[in-house]
Amino acid sequence: MKQEFDFNDPEFIKNPHPFYTKLRASKKPLWVLPRPDMRSSNDGIWVFSRYEDCVAILKQSTSISNDLNYRFKGDTIPFYMHMLNHDGKEHARLRRLVNQFFSTQYITNLETHIYNVVENHIESMIKNKDINLITDFAEKIPFDVIASILGIPLSDMPRIRKWTIAIGNGFDTFTVNEEIIQKQQQALLLLLDYLRVLIKNEEETENQTVLYSLIQAQKEGHLNNDELLGMVSFLLIAGHETTIALIGNGLWLLLSHPEQWQLLVENPGMIPQAIEEVLRFESPAQRSSFRIATKTIDINGNIVKPGEQLTVAIASANRDETIFTDPHSFDIQREVNPHIAFGIGVHSCIGQHLARVEARIAFEKIIARFPHMKLKSNIPQWRSSTFFRGLESLCVTL
Ligand code: HEM
Repeated sequence: MKQEFDFNDPEFIKNPHPFYTKLRASKKPLWVLPRPDMRSSNDGIWVFSRYEDCVAILKQSTSISNDLNYRFKGDTIPFYMHMLNHDGKEHARLRRLVNQFFSTQYITNLETHIYNVVENHIESMIKNKDINLITDFAEKIPFDVIASILGIPLSDMPRIRKWTIAIGNGFDTFTVNEEIIQKQQQALLLLLDYLRVLIKNEEETENQTVLYSLIQAQKEGHLNNDELLGMVSFLLIAGHETTIALIGNGLWLLLSHPEQWQLLVENPGMIPQAIEEVLRFESPAQRSSFRIATKTIDINGNIVKPGEQLTVAIASANRDETIFTDPHSFDIQREVNPHIAFGIGVHSCIGQHLARVEARIAFEKIIARFPHMKLKSNIPQWRSSTFFRGLESLCVTL
């Protein structure tokens, strides 16, 4: 029997973990209907929840494909022509074109810039006593940083942010309605048009940026026009939405566990370890992208047939009691933490080093500057999404 579930349940948004715990215990995947414009003849999607199954699926690239481009229709198609939606050589070709911008070396050279971005935003917060850490801090950093890596003028970012919020809302395939889908499509068209103009005026693009580098690669025939648009727009969205959530979730978790906040005030060297625990405990990307079976596969006795779609619940895997001791405790001193918040396998996150460095610098600076910061409310305001786990707002007294 296929197990189904209503992801629109507000209790699930507040806390998805009791549900995932039951799902893992059942050892069966869930069967979910996706958004109406993505339905094919096999219209359900399997959601796997156990760590072992999730890792097996993410590592499997011969009988499970990421190439789901055929699902999309209309003028927004270029948006989907990025590396995560490709397999094998095509995926490797696209990833290779931008890899250098996310290497350890490149990000290390960017640290001074990230420090300055964080400092500037902290300075502008100081004059206020009460702050919303999401809009006044967490949102600003990844946004400014990814703009400079990509080569998008900072002055354009406020209007781009409006589009990326609407696009991100549409990623929540299990809960979206017609209105959200329409807003997402409109925002995608505006973003693609904006990028087309930017690419056309390429003399204004700075070299040493992803945009410049991809424009040159396109001229040399290494990717086509749609792929160029898809890569830049996907990197733009992937490069800020999840990192905003990481910084916001981290500040919430630490402030709501004051003894662990204090531990970091006294031992800032523990911040990298704390970041890993934040990633595990409230994983910013709650699920992987969708995959499709190309052959019959057997995942621990659960058979997925060719043509059926599947995804993995990263949030659930990261609380699997067979892997993590006391999984529902937030513990920055946890020693064994093989979380999969950045995925695993060939599609593992290209931006993970960048995200970790941004979060480390953000936490180092804010903890040192405001060691006595206090929450204004103990009730978190989670964004209404089952895909991104992030806060709508986080009000504190500095
Ligand atoms: C806390 C922050 C982040 C989290 C939790 C996160 C999470 C993930 C996950 C789970 C995947 C794998 C998806 C799958 O296999 O279906 C992924 C892939 C990816 N991420 Fe991130 N990400 C973060 C930050 C970033 C940043 C800063 C960038 C930079 C632009 C980025 C760009 C990408 C790209 C391009 C892929 C696809 C890689 C491929 O297909 O080879 N992400 N990310």
